[in-house]
Amino acid sequence: ADRNVAKIRIEDGEMRKRLPNAIIIGVKKGGTRALLEILKIHPSIRACSSEVHFFDRDENYEQGLEWYRQQMPASLPHQITIEKSPSYFITPEVPERVHRMSKTVKLLVIVRDPTRRAISDYTQSLERKPDNPPFEEMVMDADGKIDEDWSKLEIGRYAKHLARWLKYFPLHQIHFVSGEELIKRPAKEVQLVERFLKLKPFITEDNFFFNESKGFPCFVGKITENGSVKKSHCMGESKGRKHPVVQEDVLERLREFFRPLNGKFYSMVGRNFNWD
Ligand code: A3P
Repeated sequence: ADRNVAKIRIEDGEMRKRLPNAIIIGVKKGGTRALLEILKIHPSIRACSSEVHFFDRDENYEQGLEWYRQQMPASLPHQITIEKSPSYFITPEVPERVHRMSKTVKLLVIVRDPTRRAISDYTQSLERKPDNPPFEEMVMDADGKIDEDWSKLEIGRYAKHLARWLKYFPLHQIHFVSGEELIKRPAKEVQLVERFLKLKPFITEDNFFFNESKGFPCFVGKITENGSVKKSHCMGESKGRKHPVVQEDVLERLREFFRPLNGKFYSMVGRNFNWD
């Protein structure tokens, strides 16, 4: 009998790398890193620290699922493995590829006001290309019209990208996180994620404190990283950057451009994100 008990324990405690049960598929600059960091507070979550880009980069996808599995952290059988690669949401080939791996994988999308998202994306690009023209110039075409094909606007057409995913996955398998709420009421917003992932409620208000100088919530919770335990931490300097001030008339035109697209997205997912 003792031997059986021991055997069960070993099976119970089997640490190994597993394919993800949930993927944060987007959106870029929505707060994907913060969402992942917060979820890592939960003892039933194991997450990849870096973006894997398996489904969106052919050179990775060609390595096959075993390569993908090797990129994952080891986990116990009851734990959920998560990775995040924000470009999955907008890359046309990805939904079918994910579906081929698993028809039941849960999908998380953190969305943010697409106008703010575009400015955030532009602000990030200034780090690599400090000589970029001002935002106002980049968002307009030669005739002074909004350049609707600019990639930083294209990513914000959430309804269009979602429609591609809905060809492969039912809506109830996709959970949408409000990027704004994750900053204002992080505990409440992440509790909705716990429920979606069918996790035992664990994360509470006590896991957050607002850092006035950063202007964002920071996190309290044991996160084991490379064997060391971090008790409280804020996101790094590349998260929560200061944005340039954008001319009010340009902002208004961008909001006009996105308003009908946002409305369509709200009705598709059944939640009003109040961006307009
Ligand atoms: P900004 O830097 O434009 O403010 P991603 O991780 O997908 O690149 O998203 C980055 C965004 O996460 C940041 O954009 C910031 O607004 C948002 N964010 C959400 N919660 C945050 C937090 N607790 N600390 C810092 N940034 C946070």
